[in-house]
Amino acid sequence: MTNEKFNQTDRYDALMDVVANRLTNRAFDETYTVPKEHYELILESARHGPSGANAQPWNYIVITKPELKQALADTFVLEQNHRAKLGMKFPTPNYRGMATAPGLILVAADFRFIKAFPVLNDGSELDQRYRVNAERILLQSVAASVMSAHLAAAALGYAVWWVTAIGQEEIQEQFKPLIGLPDELAIIDIMCFGPPKKESYKRWRRELPEIMSYDKFNMDNFWTDEMIDEWIKTKRHRVMYRDADNVD
Ligand SMILES: Cc1cc2nc3c(=O)[nH]c(=O)nc-3n(C[C@H](O)[C@H](O)[C@H](O)COP(=O)(O)O)c2cc1C
Repeated sequence: MTNEKFNQTDRYDALMDVVANRLTNRAFDETYTVPKEHYELILESARHGPSGANAQPWNYIVITKPELKQALADTFVLEQNHRAKLGMKFPTPNYRGMATAPGLILVAADFRFIKAFPVLNDGSELDQRYRVNAERILLQSVAASVMSAHLAAAALGYAVWWVTAIGQEEIQEQFKPLIGLPDELAIIDIMCFGPPKKESYKRWRRELPEIMSYDKFNMDNFWTDEMIDEWIKTKRHRVMYRDADNVD
């Protein structure tokens, strides 16, 4: 017998409507102004994110000044050029859309909270190994909060853009003073959102059986190194920049 309390399919459907329609777009309607309440609704959702030790190692800086958005976009374009010169073959999007994104929020992570997670804090070799795990706890915590923010923006009807490609430490150091961010914090993500310039599209997803198994890992789902290399070579650019029906 199904317990109605745990079978609230209407709520599930409402959630899935948001989850499945959270779509990345990289160019927004630049004439639109995000109402202040929307920033608050979005970050209220982020505030409820779960985190290791309930440390909540995040902070959100809403960027409204066009000159700051422009500076950030310029930094990205420079980094992109730098990567191209290094021969990094990552298919880079056009970061100019960042300058005109109606909504732009910087996510700052406080990595000092690593010591709030299970670590020895004695600098030993064992401590280092625990620290690797603690860093993963911190990254997953911040991602959980950021995801809540993205879902809230999607629920409001916006297209979203999750950007992590801030690159190396030096780039961070250039930008931090512009927003008065203390050295102890790191800009880990940039969240852009707004009405899309052109309609968003649904990107490829692996089918459920390809990512799911019961009790024992299904080896059919295991990718060899060669398969991953092949995927990067032939598919990655398609799954990033084409809709799900046009990947093959
Ligand atoms: C952790 C994370 C980092 C990402 N970093 C970038 C980024 O730096 N630049 C970018 O253009 N897109 C970035 N994306 C967006 C992904 O490319 C996008 O989510 C993916 O292609 C799936 O498309 P969808 O969001 O429409 O489902 C990132 C997404 C995530 C979750």
